[in-house]
Order: sequence, then structure tokens, then C-alpha cells
Amino acid sequence: MNEIRVGILGLGTIGLGAARILIEQQTLMARRLGKTLRLVTAADRNVNRDFGLDLSGVRLTDDANDVVTADDVDLVIELIGGYEPARTFVATALEHGKHVVTANKALIAKHGEELFPLAEKHGVAIAFEAAVGGGIPCLKALREGLASNSVESVYGILNGTCNFILTKMENEGADYADVLKEAQALGYAEADPSFDVEGIDTAHKLSILASMSFGSKINFDDVFTEGISKISAADISAVAELGYRIKLLGIAKPHTIDGEKKVEMRVHPTLVPLSAQLAQVSDSYNAVMISGDFVEHTVYTGRGAGERPTASAVIADVMDIARIADGGVKYLAPPMGYVSSERQDLKTLPMSDVQSEYYLRFMVKDESGVIAAISAVLADHQISLEAVLQKERHATHAVPVIMLTHGTTEGNLQAAMSRIITLPSVQEDVLILRKESFGV
Ligand code: HSE
Repeated sequence: MNEIRVGILGLGTIGLGAARILIEQQTLMARRLGKTLRLVTAADRNVNRDFGLDLSGVRLTDDANDVVTADDVDLVIELIGGYEPARTFVATALEHGKHVVTANKALIAKHGEELFPLAEKHGVAIAFEAAVGGGIPCLKALREGLASNSVESVYGILNGTCNFILTKMENEGADYADVLKEAQALGYAEADPSFDVEGIDTAHKLSILASMSFGSKINFDDVFTEGISKISAADISAVAELGYRIKLLGIAKPHTIDGEKKVEMRVHPTLVPLSAQLAQVSDSYNAVMISGDFVEHTVYTGRGAGERPTASAVIADVMDIARIADGGVKYLAPPMGYVSSERQDLKTLPMSDVQSEYYLRFMVKDESGVIAAISAVLADHQISLEAVLQKERHATHAVPVIMLTHGTTEGNLQAAMSRIITLPSVQEDVLILRKESFGV
């Protein structure tokens, strides 16, 4: 098979990027592959518009079923996004013996466990590098480059929109809503931007990384998820004064508790020391830090969103599949990096058992004994303090008091906090952020 015939579902930002690469990079890719990738057909809701790309010779249709059932298509690229109808089209393509490449993290996180066996049953490949980290080939690195390691931890800045917003809020004092609009205009944001800012997109990606790291089934619904929408410019500058930067992190770690393996998975705004590598990752850049027992720390970084970087990862998958599509050498790793019979149903570690350090911001009446009263409750729960900072003085208004704690469990911290907010001088408006030191 000297030619792999490709169909695309969805000519949005990433779909057009993928079409552009297939057309503009055809010669380069043919030299690398020893075969040609040809864009045969594409489906989009509105095919009568100016795509800004010469699509003559490409059969355009507004019915995705035409693409997933077409006799002259070997491989379908799904770039519709979201759960449905993407799931139905991908399943139909697999059932029709077509390989599938997708950038759809929501689809893989939620329905991957149905789609992997379907692909296996029909003897075709399913690949999704672009689903995590945009243009960074981090899944390939994890699945193949680190395959001899037990993975010890995964830390990721996995959402370009949030990283872009946090960076602009810090550097330019920009308003949250304005920066979100800018990220949308640049093609970073999801169709529903709450998926970005509420951490859901990061949770989709983290659940895929965790599963690939630990050989567990994907458990997206179990990921503890908090977004960045409650973070104010004042929080960002208070954190900076303490030597930290706020990043929306996805964190996954394996645990063995009483002989049972469990997986910790959480997404939340996190204080990262300014000297840590992840603190230097700004704008729409993503980064994934994976630590393995032999390799130690590895960090992968690059553009996590946008047309060209994401399409780059999509087409790398297409090329990998093209190499094996004629039944040649079978060196494609299984989609989740473990043979299917070895993938386990591991439980998720309850959030109350997760260990973290904390940044606590209270609004308190500026009167004597308040800090002592809060500290007394924390001490009662064996929570030790690293730093205390009162930001302002005011006779009548509440003022912010910030505390950094050493490590404790989430359950213990929450128990202490439920007592602290009943103290007469402490208002209900409390901000709890988790903090990671990375040994810094
Ligand atoms: N909305 C996503 C982001 C796109 O902002 O990172 C890439 O998955």
C-alpha cells in the first residue's frame, strides 16, 4: 500500500490545520514514510465557506457518515470534539475497518474504554497523541520512551487557555474575562470554555496520562477537579510575594495501601515555587513532568493548544499508523501502552487521603488574637505553619491573612478549616490552594 487515504471529520481550527499539513507537507512526509498520505474527503457542517486553503480534489460533504463508511478511506481523523456525535462516528469508522486518529480528549477520557476493544476487534489502530499536551509528543514519550519504567508521578500544565489566562493576569494585570476572549480568538479554548477554566479539560487529559502511566483503566469521573475561575489578581500577586506562581496542575501518583494499588488524580490551581521548571512554562505552553524509577525526572514542553501545534501531533499519529497500515512490521505500541489483558481496574485514592501543602487565605477582622486563634486550630490538627502574612491593616474592613502550611492530608485540613470558619473574627470567604515543592 503506497498510499494511505485519509478522511477528516470537522474542518474547524484543528481540522484545517491537519488538512493544511496533509497538503503542504506531503512531499516531506512521503520521504519519511516511503508512502503518500492523501486527503480524500472531509466532512463539515458548512462546506460552502471559504476555508482559506485550496481543497480542490478533496470531496467535501456535510454528512460525516459519508466519510466514516467511504470505501476509499483507510484512516479517519476525528476533529469534531466533544462526546457525541464524535463517539458514534468513531465507533462506526472502527466498525468499517478504518484506523482512527483523534485529538478528542473528552472522547478518550469518557469513552476510550469502549473504543479500544472495538479497534482491537476490528484489527485497526486508534491513536490520540494530540489529545494531551497539544503539539508535545508526550504520550509517545510515556508509552514508548519510558516503557521500561514504573511511573512514580505525573505533573502537568495541560490546559493552554488556563495557562494563557494566568500568565496574562500575572504579567499584565489583565482582566480574566478579556484574556479568556483572547484565548478563544486564538483557537485555544474549548467550544464550552467552562471545560477549560473549571479544570475539566485538564481532568480529561490527566485521566488519560494516569491510565497510560499506571496501566489502569481510565477513570475520568474520579478525578478531583477545581478550576481557576475563583483566582483573583490579588491572589496572584500575594502568591508572587511569597515566591510562588499559580499554575493549574494535573497531578497523578500511584499508591499501594494495605497491599491494594490505588491511583491519586487531582486537578487544581497549585502554588509552584518560582524556581521550579513548571513555573517557567507560560502562555499557551503546556508541560508534562513524568518521573520514572529508572529515568528519574523528565519534562516535555511545547504549545498545548492552537491550530498548527495540535495538527502537528494529529498527523504524527497518522504517519505512525501509515507505517503499519499495509500489515508490515507491527511496531505500533498498544494504544494505552499495556497489552489489553494487563490493564487493571485500580481504585482512585480518596481526596481526603491525599497529602499536600496548603496556601490558606482568610478574610478576618483586624483585631488582636485572630491569627493566634486560627493557628491554635491548625496546631490542634497537627498542621504546622511555614509562613504567615497579614496583607493590610484596617480598622473596619476585613483584611486578608495568608498562611502557608507544611504537609498534611486533605481530610485533616478540611476538618481544621470547618472549625476555623466558625471563629467569630473569620469570614466565610476563604481560599484554599494546594502547594507543591518538587523538592525545591
Ligand atoms: N482547550 C484546550 C486548551 C485545547 O486550552 O489547552 C487543547 O486541548
